[in-house]
Amino acid sequence: MLTEAIPQEIREQLEQKREQMNANTEDANLIGAAAFEAPREDILVDTIIALYLGKNVLLKGPTGSGKTKLAEHVSAIFNQPMHAVNCSTDLDAEALLGFKTLSHDEQGHSQIVFIPGPIMKAMTKGHFLYIDEINMAKPETLSLINGVLDYRRSITNPFTGEVITAHPDFRVVAAINEGYMGTVPLNEALKNRFVTVDIPYLQGEALYKLLKSKSVLHDDKLLRTYVQLSADLVTLIEMGQLPDEAGSIRALLDACDLTAYIPPMRAVARAIADKLEDERERAAVINTAETLF
Ligand SMILES: Nc1ncnc2c1ncn2[C@@H]1O[C@H](COP(=O)(O)OP(=O)(O)OP(=O)(O)O)[C@@H](O)[C@H]1O
Ligand SMILES: [Mg+2]
Repeated sequence: MLTEAIPQEIREQLEQKREQMNANTEDANLIGAAAFEAPREDILVDTIIALYLGKNVLLKGPTGSGKTKLAEHVSAIFNQPMHAVNCSTDLDAEALLGFKTLSHDEQGHSQIVFIPGPIMKAMTKGHFLYIDEINMAKPETLSLINGVLDYRRSITNPFTGEVITAHPDFRVVAAINEGYMGTVPLNEALKNRFVTVDIPYLQGEALYKLLKSKSVLHDDKLLRTYVQLSADLVTLIEMGQLPDEAGSIRALLDACDLTAYIPPMRAVARAIADKLEDERERAAVINTAETLF
């Protein structure tokens, strides 16, 4: 799982840690699968090195480029369970940190107990925290997260008053949907706390391998044509003629899967073209596909 490109010292340390961790199966179901195909070797190598050094990593890439897959992949490499939060949903302090509730013990006595949320669990257990769409975090949430990312790595639990300092193995991976064309607003102080890694759409031979292993479509010629379609769409994205989501590998996989049962042009329309807002953009995808299929 670890290539030669990872410095030997780090490889050995990670192997050692993995062996120690194997004894501890608690939360093992939260360890991700190593299924990320790196578009370039440095993407994976630098992410691993930064995390090894205790840095927070921010993954920047368009929708369906494999950011979540990469986070799961490093969770597997470090053999650390990963807790996930998504900032685009209505997150409040309770959803992140936890809440107090009434519980009954065996004698029937009621007592107030604290049910920890994902941040608390990751910090105290030394697990990974995956913060998705971090640019969408509301100001209240941001100030909470800023403290966690700080060199102090601590947070005051407003429900218990307790100051929690993170376990040394605690790591943060965050993601934003930033595409080929623009940038998304992201608080400077927040950005400053991360090492950033750009993730482009997987292309060429590596994409072919991914489609071949993941899709229910097995026709080699068609799979190769989809790889070409993806390259052509990414060119149009780079020229500003298509939005990023037109190049999503998730959508491409959907199109391949559908093509196992319906004609490719219909599959492309359903999986890629028809969800685009603009009529000209839909036409551009269809025209591009028509030159290939
Ligand atoms: N580099 C890659 N390696 C492996 N799988 C990939 C890769 N890129 C895309 N995929 C596939 O595409 C799908 C979408 O990937 P993923 O959910 O990680 O994207 P994402 O960047 O997190 O997207 P979003 O921004 O919409 O959350 C996955 O199910 C995966 O199968
Ligand atoms: Mg994702």
